[in-house]
Amino acid sequence: MKKEISAVYSGSFDPPTNGHLDIIIRASHLFPKIIVAVTENINKKYTFSLRERIVLLQKITKGLKNTKIVSFSGLLADYVEQINSFVLIRGLRAISDFEYEFQMALMNRKLNKKIETIFLMTDQRYTFLSSSMVKEIAILGGDTKDFVPKYVEKELKKRVVDLSKRNNEK
Ligand code: PNS
Repeated sequence: MKKEISAVYSGSFDPPTNGHLDIIIRASHLFPKIIVAVTENINKKYTFSLRERIVLLQKITKGLKNTKIVSFSGLLADYVEQINSFVLIRGLRAISDFEYEFQMALMNRKLNKKIETIFLMTDQRYTFLSSSMVKEIAILGGDTKDFVPKYVEKELKKRVVDLSKRNNEK
């Protein structure tokens, strides 16, 4: 492996989970620099704004010195060209992820032939985890402490309260 290569881990991270953090930590042991690239898709409704997702990621990766949190819009294949970083990290939880991930890896390579996608397997404790499930659990009053870092858990609780207040006012 070329020692100077940095790797990009992109996603919406709405919110970041223990599974995301596990992948970031694993990648940070393999590459000198990890760029966690937060996406903003104008067609998607997020629970946390772009700025909030960036702050959540900054807080939970504070101890990792080789990790940088950035945001981007548009195609990832174009963004990696801008920053001259062509290794993409993706987390695999279960075999059911594979088809979508395989398709995306090949599409990204088609869009930019310099791109290589590297798949890292999450810890088996997180194979069933997803941001959307965690949000649903939080909204329905369930306990998310095993699924997200403490800081995210706290912010998620606050957001759920705010959202339910807003709904009651309608
Ligand atoms: O939050 P997710 O589902 O893990 O992230 C989805 C993904 C990878 C599509 C997003 O992080 C991203 O990179 N969006 C940028 C738009 C893009 O390039 N889409 C993929 C075309 S193959």
